[in-house]
Amino acid sequence: MKEEKDLMTKDPESEGGITSGYQMNDGVKLKVPYSFFGSIYDQEEEKALLAVLKQESQTMGPQVTLFQREFAKAFDVKHAFATSNCTTAMHAVTQVFGIKEGDEVIVTPNTFIATSLVILKEGGKPVFADIDPKTFNIDPAQIESKITDRTKAIYVVHYGGQMCDMDPIMAIAKKHNLLVLEDCAHAHGATYKGRKAGSIGDIGCFSFHSLKNMVTLGEGGMITTNNDYFADKINRMRVMSITHWSPEQTHWEFGGHQLDKKNNLDYWVPSHFDVIDDDGKWGNNYRMNEAQAAVGRTQLRKLDMLIGKRRENGHYLNEGLKGIKGITPTFVDPNCFHAFHLYTICVEPEILGASRDEFMRVLYQEEGIQGILHYQPSYHFTGLKKKYNYPDKLCKNAEDFFYARQLNLPMNPRLTKEDLDMMIEGIKNAANKVRK
Ligand SMILES: Cc1ncc(COP(=O)(O)O)c(C=O)c1O
Repeated sequence: MKEEKDLMTKDPESEGGITSGYQMNDGVKLKVPYSFFGSIYDQEEEKALLAVLKQESQTMGPQVTLFQREFAKAFDVKHAFATSNCTTAMHAVTQVFGIKEGDEVIVTPNTFIATSLVILKEGGKPVFADIDPKTFNIDPAQIESKITDRTKAIYVVHYGGQMCDMDPIMAIAKKHNLLVLEDCAHAHGATYKGRKAGSIGDIGCFSFHSLKNMVTLGEGGMITTNNDYFADKINRMRVMSITHWSPEQTHWEFGGHQLDKKNNLDYWVPSHFDVIDDDGKWGNNYRMNEAQAAVGRTQLRKLDMLIGKRRENGHYLNEGLKGIKGITPTFVDPNCFHAFHLYTICVEPEILGASRDEFMRVLYQEEGIQGILHYQPSYHFTGLKKKYNYPDKLCKNAEDFFYARQLNLPMNPRLTKEDLDMMIEGIKNAANKVRK
């Protein structure tokens, strides 16, 4: 038990500096910790999981099929494909888009590295377009200036659960014949002018990682599209480049197997499918398993409730933090139904008279409220710089309006009114303490 507890906190072998929590062994007494779990589980998930244990197979079964169907219906799309996580989802999509060496993809710098990583994996170059200083989403006006004759696609991220300004983005894509991927890792339940995340671009990708608005046992993802041509390719990239024989197949080219009298293959024939590349792209095993899908189905049924609680929390914090000099609460775009995946505030050093880091230190150590920073601009990372020599301050707004000022407060659907009041109180106190 002790070993497990230690490994959940700070461990030298942890993945990317964190394991399964943000707890620190530094003696600070927290009033409101930043939780690593973004949802609510109850007897429904327990029941669903136990039922899967009794299924004959825990993969490629009914739960995944039903989860996909139910997700597609809930998100107003024709097709949905469950994946092992959002990164594998976006990788499969990058293959489907045919991104290859020398291609450019315009992408926001204000995201988890996964959004750029999948472009790099296929040999493409992430071209960073700056963000809007209020929403922290990619700025459509910045996109157009980045287009060259090598540009193939635009990858947008609905930061924090508030969707990007999709109308101008889709108009630019149409004008220049570009594909659009919506990274919806934060945006389950979000809408833009009444349209759902993942239903506007050519393809959407969702994450069900532990922190997200809905979760499937720690990892999980979903690809959405309305495009039949892409749907077929997505499935092949997701599962081993598998191509099913058409029912009209009248001959069997390899293995010397015969068709039966009704023109069917015998069930024991080892190749019920063919394997074909897609323009040189080969498939993967990016499947979700049955237990994850069964939990995903229950989470989907709870999604309105989960988002409702996040929104209540977000609006309550916005109200409580109004008028604190030097602290800017979350901006809500009237075109958007904000899912409040994150609750981001900005510290204005010129007004507060202290830096964001000074403020956060007091907020954490003296007020017991655990803020977290999300996302330095992706072009900061050594590997990316080495490959493409990005300059240090490539995107001014991502640097000055986001990276230097932002912090995320605890946000999940389990927060109580007492937690929210302690957060508001803690912010007020910390601001007064550091004010010069
Ligand atoms: C914006 C964004 N995109 C992609 C991902 C990757 O998701 P996953 O962990 O499911 O691969 C994350 C995960 O945190 C994310 O925040």
